[in-house]
Amino acid sequence: MPEVTLEEHLHEVKDHEAAKLISEIARMSVDIRMEFPQRMAAKKGEENKYGEMAEELDVWTNNFYCEEFKKSGLVRAVYSEELKTPVRFSEDAPFVVTIDPLDGSSNIRSNNPIGAIIGIYRKEIPTTGRSLVASLYKQYGPMTTLVYTAGKGVHEFVKFRKGKMRYCLVEENIRVPEPGKVYGMGGSPLKWIPKFREFVKYMEEEKKMKLRYCGTFVGDFNQVLHYGGMFAYPALIDKPEGKLRLFYEGIPMANIIEKAGGLSSNGKISLLDIECEDPDARTPLYVGSKELILELVERLRR
Ligand code: F6P
Ligand code: MN
Repeated sequence: MPEVTLEEHLHEVKDHEAAKLISEIARMSVDIRMEFPQRMAAKKGEENKYGEMAEELDVWTNNFYCEEFKKSGLVRAVYSEELKTPVRFSEDAPFVVTIDPLDGSSNIRSNNPIGAIIGIYRKEIPTTGRSLVASLYKQYGPMTTLVYTAGKGVHEFVKFRKGKMRYCLVEENIRVPEPGKVYGMGGSPLKWIPKFREFVKYMEEEKKMKLRYCGTFVGDFNQVLHYGGMFAYPALIDKPEGKLRLFYEGIPMANIIEKAGGLSSNGKISLLDIECEDPDARTPLYVGSKELILELVERLRR
């Protein structure tokens, strides 16, 4: 198979500035990955706006992205899971970016996969996910991969580093398989809302699906994109809003799953249709193969 680099692939993206920004974000992974070993055993950083103790690596990664976004001249504002208030740069720059700079940071110490999730808008936030220009995630697993959509299709690349660093195409126009094979769910099963708990039992006993859960949204999402099935961080009995963040995590990934023929939901509607004024809001989140998500939403409604 002829090698297609990310740069070559991005030539097809109509929005040239968005293509440039995606390419810049890909380049940033070199420094970020090199930083992991020396910070893996570091002490906790500081408390973030969600009252969670951020790891030192979360803080470093967030600062690194912000500095690089500023230097790129392409970003006018960054809304980050790790920032108490958004940062703004030149008002002439074209994009507003949302970022979860280091998804799954409780996996740093155990060296399980971690990742990054990014949404790119021309409009100001708050807006709905329908106005995303592009979204992408990076997975730092045994290999570093990058999955993006810039309107048409979902494409996956893997990072090589022999000579000059480059990302090469692994799969173009990924489609979420039907019926799905795997499922992975966050939160304590004892706290899941009862209808959701019943649905998990149904997936296991009747659909014969297989449980696989790594504890990093990016990793759990990536397996659903490739094998089909469902990832959920559901509404909980004592926390109906769930845990995951609508803008930083939910919407960019919902855009990817839906562009790949799957579906996203908050239990009622697509995450892309939610109108929400609070950039820091959480949401119950269900993403995966289309038929399965439709079935789940129907059962949650009854
Ligand atoms: O960003 C939050 C996160 O780390 C996600 O990556 C992951 O899906 C979730 O938390 C796991 O939460 P829990 O440990 O509660 O299952
Ligand atoms: Mn996260």
